Amino acid sequence: MFKNFLDHVDSIIARDPAAGSRLEVALCYPGLHAVVMHHGAHFLAENGLITAGRWVSQLARFLTGIEIHPSATIGERLFIDHGMGVVIGSTAVVGNNVTLYQGVTLGGTSLERGVKRHPTLGDNVIVGAGAHVLGPITVHAGARIGANAVVLHDVPQGATMVGIPAKASQDIGRIAPEFLAYGTPCSESSDPVACMLTSLTEQVRKLNERLKALEAGQLAQGQQDEDEKSPVRIIPDAAE
Ligand SMILES: CC(C)(COP(=O)(O)OP(=O)(O)OC[C@H]1O[C@@H](n2cnc3c(N)ncnc32)[C@H](O)[C@@H]1OP(=O)(O)O)[C@@H](O)C(=O)NCCC(=O)NCCS
Repeated sequence: MFKNFLDHVDSIIARDPAAGSRLEVALCYPGLHAVVMHHGAHFLAENGLITAGRWVSQLARFLTGIEIHPSATIGERLFIDHGMGVVIGSTAVVGNNVTLYQGVTLGGTSLERGVKRHPTLGDNVIVGAGAHVLGPITVHAGARIGANAVVLHDVPQGATMVGIPAKASQDIGRIAPEFLAYGTPCSESSDPVACMLTSLTEQVRKLNERLKALEAGQLAQGQQDEDEKSPVRIIPDAAE
């Protein structure tokens, strides 16, 4: 057990350049304290002492600002950096070596009882500060969730998701419209929704231009057909 604790501490040192020593991590990292207290709360809840488990969980929340429901399944070496404002729901499942930053929610979107309502995070997932991962979705191993993203659908292995709702970050650079709203190229925008709107606006503008050209062509063709169909009038020769 002590070896597991040291492994956990070492994994935190490996993931936080600001961490100086094992003692510093053991004393000053609320993410570590919250996870250790969760082990106790989870043990109580698993053994039918739900209220006692909730009480320990709330004590951990009071001390660390991190709320982990006692029923949540947490893997090895979870690192919650800074911690304040993190919420992990009751049916959430967190894999090994996961890193969460402050303000992360692993939350539900329904009020149904007895079903899985919270996300599952695979091994080595990183969730940036202020990001919210909502619903019974799966964030597959090695995926990264950008700061302040809102993730509502499954995330493929190793993907990087950013924005609201979160999209794979490589999609941002792919959109390169000719019209640059406010002179900001999409590749420099941090908001994929704004990029998508810019791209759609550009497509609508192009479609309008093509429609106008088609209509003008049809009008001209119609006029020509009309001229060809009309009977040739023979103007009597004035000399006759
Ligand atoms: C999402 C993240 C993991 C991507 O990191 P990365 O692989 O180094 O990616 P880049 O910085 O090269 O950015 C890739 C693209 O996503 C965009 N992007 C990066 N982070 C973003 C975010 N949080 N929201 C929206 N867009 C973001 C970049 O602008 C870039 O767009 P481009 O390809 O059009 O230029 C990282 O930016 C992030 O948010 N990490 C969380 C860190 C955190 O919470 N730290 C708290 C410490 S206290």
